[in-house]
Amino acid sequence: MSQGLDDVIAAETRLSSVDGARGVLVVKGFSLDRLAGQKRFEDVAHLLFEGLLDDLPDAKAFAARLGAAREAVYPLAQYIDDALLALPPMDGVRALTARIEDGEDVATALRLLAAPAVLLPAFLRRRRGLAPIAPDAKSGHAADMLHMLTGEVPAPEVAAALDTYLVTVADHGLNASTFAARVVSSTWSGLTSSVLAGLAALKGPLHGGAPGPIIAMLDGIGKPENAESWIEDALDRGDRLMGFGHRIYKVRDPRADALKAAVKRMSADSSALPGRLKLAEAVERAALKVLHKRKPDRPLDVNVEFYTALLLEALGFPPDAFTAVFATGRTAGWLAHAREQRLTGRLIRPQSVYVGPEPAELV
Ligand code: CMC
Repeated sequence: MSQGLDDVIAAETRLSSVDGARGVLVVKGFSLDRLAGQKRFEDVAHLLFEGLLDDLPDAKAFAARLGAAREAVYPLAQYIDDALLALPPMDGVRALTARIEDGEDVATALRLLAAPAVLLPAFLRRRRGLAPIAPDAKSGHAADMLHMLTGEVPAPEVAAALDTYLVTVADHGLNASTFAARVVSSTWSGLTSSVLAGLAALKGPLHGGAPGPIIAMLDGIGKPENAESWIEDALDRGDRLMGFGHRIYKVRDPRADALKAAVKRMSADSSALPGRLKLAEAVERAALKVLHKRKPDRPLDVNVEFYTALLLEALGFPPDAFTAVFATGRTAGWLAHAREQRLTGRLIRPQSVYVGPEPAELV
């Protein structure tokens, strides 16, 4: 029995590989630094989908079809009512996504890929008492998401920062949400069901729910000189430091560096970001020092979520929406894995060891 399935290999995949000892992420033969900041999200999604969906258009047509899919899902924003607005954004997006009909075809995949980029901004605007903004099918995916959020056409470097983020998180081996998506796909449920499973698993703070609380940590710490004592107090209380540690990486998460570079590129044009970045760097240094002192046998390092928090805050997303932005990128991976499981995998049905009481008649 393996409690967290740590050493269990449950799928063969051509999609991505995570080398936790060397800190290397490979997506379809490209290392992360050849993709993040180099290729658009729609092109990386296309790369992931290649060979897995019938009638997949070529990369150029794919971007146009994704734009059309954003328009096709926009009417779902009409279902954002007061009851939905009382939920966290991740739950709101999940409820709206559930209205997309299940299927296995490219049109369903495109609608699901488009959905969070359209529905999250609509949800956030409605929550602020503003009308949703319709997508622009001709725009890039990241730029359109920001336009739908703010009502302004983003500067190229701002759109590029979100694009870098979406690419960085697009796929990451057999993480918990991807496994959940594959389990559901293995029963032949359909792509919508797989994405809903992914959304449900991603939400937890041990997986994709960490970046929101990182903002609360930075705000709680306030200035660099408070970092060490704040962290010591948090660990004394038994808290985990969000943005540190990883099941697979035993060294620095390579995605953290890709995102820190994107934050640095943005900070050149910002008045607030350089100060925030300085604080985050001080918190990172203090956290590593304290974690290494307290757990010398555990190789705990920074993970993707730490600089995600800084980047998404600078882009104007509220902290409680960060996980849904993560989902906007990871949906590409969920869909590709769901299709890969459907085409090459087997029903996932592990076994458990019964440790409860035996019926009296059998003892
Ligand atoms: N703060 C304090 N202690 C920690 C942390 C942390 N961030 N991470 C691990 N530990 C401790 C943990 O308490 C345990 O100690 P002990 O053995 O004394 O009970 C030990 O280190 C477990 O280490 P592990 O086996 O390497 O960790 P794991 O695989 O059980 O957990 C994790 C991985 C990501 C759930 C965990 O590191 C954590 O909770 N981190 C904080 C939440 C976070 O940042 N999540 C985002 C993960 S990255 C996004 C993604 O790819 O999903």
